[in-house]
Amino acid sequence: MQKRAVVIGTGSYLPREILTNADMAKIVETDDAWIQQRTGIKQRHRAADDEPTSFMATEAAKRALEAARLTADDIDGIIVATTTPDHTFPSVAVMVQANLGVKPSTAFDVQAVCSGFVYAVTVASSLIQTGVCKRMIVIGAERFTNLLDWNDRTTCVLFGDGAGAVILEAQDGQGTLQDRGVLSSYLYADGKQKDILKTDGGPGTTRTTGITHMEGKEVFRHAVGHMADIVDEVMDKNNLTSADIDWLVPHQANLRIITAIADKLQIGMDKVVLTVDQHGNTSAASIPLALDLAVRDGRIKQGQMVMIEALGAGLTWGAALIRF
Ligand code: UT7
Repeated sequence: MQKRAVVIGTGSYLPREILTNADMAKIVETDDAWIQQRTGIKQRHRAADDEPTSFMATEAAKRALEAARLTADDIDGIIVATTTPDHTFPSVAVMVQANLGVKPSTAFDVQAVCSGFVYAVTVASSLIQTGVCKRMIVIGAERFTNLLDWNDRTTCVLFGDGAGAVILEAQDGQGTLQDRGVLSSYLYADGKQKDILKTDGGPGTTRTTGITHMEGKEVFRHAVGHMADIVDEVMDKNNLTSADIDWLVPHQANLRIITAIADKLQIGMDKVVLTVDQHGNTSAASIPLALDLAVRDGRIKQGQMVMIEALGAGLTWGAALIRF
């Protein structure tokens, strides 16, 4: 018998405002053709001042609770993966806890930028397996558009805002790959690459958040290599092949990165959940947003094997195998 962290509900929230590529062309010198060809992005959502990160996170959590037919009373842990908290402190997780009316229990943020949700799910699964928590809300929520230089066309067209959430519940499994739940995950970081994607500010230096700078080509190269390698590693360590994976739910940064990874792994694009065209890169929110979409439209079904994987600034990267 082994405790497993099983996904029993998903939810998401997207800001009201949609910026199409045509809208972006009014802001910087760019065009729809360039953005679509280089990234696959058609539009992104941008949060308004009444939609801060904690609001989006709370809305996503409410929808996940509804889907799981639970209330705030059933929850004893919240982790929010975010790089764009409302405030330097307190954490977004405690704000969500207060908004939902969850009793005093575990609540904290995880900061691993675009890999944040994979990190958060892994930490939550460990807390559930060790008996610290029984039912947790794990959220990826970002207002990344606040970290952009809206005069820099090389970054501002890429990102969007949003939030996604899953409810993880402790259930008994047999300790085999037939169990439902988070079955296996691997996390990496390589601080030597910290400068290829970074902001130029922060509370410990400039007292401002700073704005995003990216060496796009370098990040692209690392993204394809590391994400394909880590998915391979997870499959290898569990004696699986790509045929055993029902759905690949990758971080949604760039369609070309996603197709290159799927090609390398010989996973058909019909088994890949894509949202990058509609959401752009929503950092830690991108995977839970994609999960919620594919659960709600009936693609991801109970019992299916789902691989999530991401790479973000740090560099950080990770992958997790989850049987829904
Ligand atoms: O989530 C964290 C992980 N992030 C990523 O995974 C992002 C990884 N990187 C990428 O997705 C791609 O590198 C980008 C989409 C950021 C850029 O694509 P690229 O094919 O690497 O283009 P590039 O940076 O080499 O730029 C090519 C040209 C340049 O012009 P020149 O120097 O060839 O004259 C750029 O100035 O495209 C130009 N350009 C643009 N043109 C129109 C750059 N941005 C734009 C733009 N619109 N928005």
